[in-house]
Amino acid sequence: MKHSTLLLPTLIRALLAVLCHAVHSQHLASQQLSSGLFESICQTEVSVIVSIYCPSVRASDVEISVDETLFSVHINPYFLRLNFSHALVEDDASSAAYDPGSGYLTVTLTKEVRGQEFKDLDLLAKLLAPRPSQQAHGAPIIEVLDSQDTANDAEDDLVARTQGLSLEQQEILEAAENDWQLPQQLPEPLPALHIRAEHRYGFLDAHAGYFTHVAHTENEVNELGADAEACPPDERRRRRLAHEDEKWDEEHYLADFADDEYIQELLAWNHPHAIVSDEFQYTEEENLTMLRLPRKEYLASARQTHDLYLTLLTLLFSYAYESRTTQCDPTPESAWTISALTPAFSALDPPPYQPHPSSDLSKFTAPELAATFAASYRRALAFPLYRSFALADACRADVAALLSGGRRVVARCLLEMKRILDHHDVYYVYSKIWVDDFCMWVLANASDKVLQNLSRDVACLRVEKKSIGWDLQELEALVREGPNRDLDSDDESEDEIERMLPVPL
Ligand SMILES: *[C@@H]1O[C@H](CO)[C@@H](O)[C@H](O)[C@H]1NC(C)=O
Ligand SMILES: *[C@@H]1O[C@H](CO)[C@@H](O)[C@H](O)[C@H]1NC(C)=O
Ligand SMILES: *[C@@H]1O[C@H](CO)[C@@H](O)[C@H](O)[C@H]1NC(C)=O
Ligand SMILES: *[C@@H]1O[C@H](CO)[C@@H](O)[C@H](O)[C@H]1NC(C)=O
Repeated sequence: MKHSTLLLPTLIRALLAVLCHAVHSQHLASQQLSSGLFESICQTEVSVIVSIYCPSVRASDVEISVDETLFSVHINPYFLRLNFSHALVEDDASSAAYDPGSGYLTVTLTKEVRGQEFKDLDLLAKLLAPRPSQQAHGAPIIEVLDSQDTANDAEDDLVARTQGLSLEQQEILEAAENDWQLPQQLPEPLPALHIRAEHRYGFLDAHAGYFTHVAHTENEVNELGADAEACPPDERRRRRLAHEDEKWDEEHYLADFADDEYIQELLAWNHPHAIVSDEFQYTEEENLTMLRLPRKEYLASARQTHDLYLTLLTLLFSYAYESRTTQCDPTPESAWTISALTPAFSALDPPPYQPHPSSDLSKFTAPELAATFAASYRRALAFPLYRSFALADACRADVAALLSGGRRVVARCLLEMKRILDHHDVYYVYSKIWVDDFCMWVLANASDKVLQNLSRDVACLRVEKKSIGWDLQELEALVREGPNRDLDSDDESEDEIERMLPVPL
């Protein structure tokens, strides 16, 4: 095994042990400091340059190691490990420099193969995401890689050994509480899930225990009441549909349909992320959030992956509705809006909403996409302040536009959704059970090609008013032909023309 170590300056092995103890004893402090660690990565023809923000460290404490694709930096109290797509080497052209003034450590590593392009260097969470373990076959599992739990030490040890880490590295890993990629696996084969009394929910049905005390919280969107933990999936769907029917308010819908001046204003707005640009770059805050995502690796079957893409559409729809109605300026109600509009949140009832007809799970059929959006439309017409079919259609068009930006833009939207939810006392749970995992999955697993195909399909989809389940067309006809409406046809057409003009904001 090729293994090289850059020492700045030469650091003797014995010092490492001391360092480990120091890190160990201050792990609480280092936990906080770790959020200060920020890196950016870029590449040239011959090298990869990693820039790490680590203020107030001693250059003598820096240890960097390069082992094929694996790059790690240990700087008391920081520890960072990245696994690149191609091999790097340390040679005369490699360098590492720490600037105490700016607090940046800049490491330049040489590409083993000159000119080789390293893809996705901006998807930081993907670099941090470990590769699948060789023996992971069979039942789909989620591997939790950052558990705070110490009960699995023996297992960790075993996993670490099987992954070929030396004992010394393992000591560093254990010592550094802020490790970014602690190899720890808690494989949970599917059968185990059904032994439990509760029904799991959330991303890949991997979560439980978040709603045990839901009756004592101010969760206004939860449609399953105190039974959220125990509710089986078919009951969740039944309660969701019943609650939507109960909240559906014809008068509210008619009022928004008849007097739609403000809605026209909302329709005239363009989503800033929907504008595709070649200059895409994540902000520093986005970079930091990506680095702090839970370290998990998802192993999903083709069917689960298919359903995740459908669920993603419902998340993006709620996000689009929230953005459009606040013009991307979130309000204290925003977390409620997003949660109330997402069936997977409020009723823990994600798609599919109709059986997938064909056996080719890489395809999305128009009826299943329509059923997915119809569920979102129903909520957009039954719960929030502005209840308009045209507005729901505009949000669907936004989803198509956002999808066309691929993983990067979709992850940006999810990160924004996460920020809104994380700032709410109650609805942050929906980040925990859905959005965090979705951010990670989109960055590490989603395919740009699939997202772009979905974009095309969603853009030309037609969601029929009659598929919503309420008498929308009849109600709208009442407004058009209503007795309190001026029936003079000239006026009518003027009105139509006026509506089509852009509305000043
Ligand atoms: C975020 O990280 C990427 C990838 O390392 C980098 O190119 C970009 O400049 C970073 N953004 C900011 C604002 O620093
Ligand atoms: C890094 O990625 C390679 C595949 O590109 C994999 O074989 C290796 O096990 C990974 N290393 C770690 C420590 O995750
Ligand atoms: C996610 O990506 C990892 C490798 O990056 C892969 O092993 C895993 O199978 C993928 N999971 C899904 C659900 O596609
Ligand atoms: C995207 O759509 C094209 C055209 O319908 C199809 O040939 C291709 O296989 C699709 N790609 C994926 C990844 O679904």
